[in-house]
Amino acid sequence: MKFSERKIKRISLGLFGTLMLTGLVACAGAPTPVPDGEGVDLYRARCGACHSVPHPARHTKEQWPPVLTLMERRMAEAGMPPFVEGERARILGYLERHGR
Ligand code: HEC
Repeated sequence: MKFSERKIKRISLGLFGTLMLTGLVACAGAPTPVPDGEGVDLYRARCGACHSVPHPARHTKEQWPPVLTLMERRMAEAGMPPFVEGERARILGYLERHGR
């Protein structure tokens, strides 16, 4: 009984430590390397708010528009402001130029 309780404690501490470390690495590390280019600052600002910015080569230029539409829904659900005039096109342009 005592032993297994201690074991569980150690496991959860280990998990916690791992999570802390991951968080620290994520914070201290350089921003995710994505290709430079027109729109990259906007891309980082808008698409790095909830998760690290995905590499544009993650999807093809045909695949990006529906992903962007899904992300607009996620932004709305999170109460984030929608894209203003031109923002969607700039981000999509950036993704399409550097897509897979
Ligand atoms: C409001 C938070 C939020 C913002 C802002 C956001 N995302 Fe996401 N993203 C998510 C969530 C949550 C998921 C997990 C999948 C899901 O539930 O839709 C995700 C998953 C993804 C994925 C993995 C899914 C796939 O099909 O590969 C990609 C790529 C992605 N987001 C791209 C973007 C891009 C590009 C932007 C900027 C336009 C963006 N995200 C902005 C919340 C966000």
